[in-house]
Amino acid sequence: MRIGVYPGTFDPLHHGHSDVIARSLRVLDQIIVAVAPNPRKAPMFDLAERVDMAKIATKDFGRVEVEPFEGLLVQYVRQRGAHAIIRGLRAVSDFEHEFQMALLNRKLDQGIETVFLMASEEYSYLTSSMVKEVASVGGPLHDFVHPEVADRLRQRFIGCR
Ligand code: PNS
Repeated sequence: MRIGVYPGTFDPLHHGHSDVIARSLRVLDQIIVAVAPNPRKAPMFDLAERVDMAKIATKDFGRVEVEPFEGLLVQYVRQRGAHAIIRGLRAVSDFEHEFQMALLNRKLDQGIETVFLMASEEYSYLTSSMVKEVASVGGPLHDFVHPEVADRLRQRFIGCR
């Protein structure tokens, strides 16, 4: 069975991420969405909330598991019996950072390949930060995130006002 790990901060998981998951399911048998604590990014939602929202957003896919992971990504990939790291590319601007990460992960473990998938052009502008920005001023979220994730975002920002 070919298993791919799709790691990220997912603060929150949006339609661009879901698009990458759908594409990766075409070439792999199972995808593990691995949610990183990533305190350096100071996520708005805590790890448990991000895992929860990612589960909600991916529940209709089948062949997708969501779980938190800590520590080194390549170690987690090995632990889960996977050999591929999935990353989405939106624009050329993503490339340099992704290239560095892929080479670092390859240096750390030669047996794991990073597979890049191009997100649909429909979502090429979309980032979790932009989703939060729209949510913070009460803008419409239905084009960006799952409806239940949109509710969580609204609740969070109502709580802040
Ligand atoms: O969604 P993001 O913030 O681009 O995801 C970054 C992530 C979580 C994939 C990256 O920070 C990561 O792999 N963190 C785990 C620690 C690690 O293994 N670092 C070395 C590779 S960069």
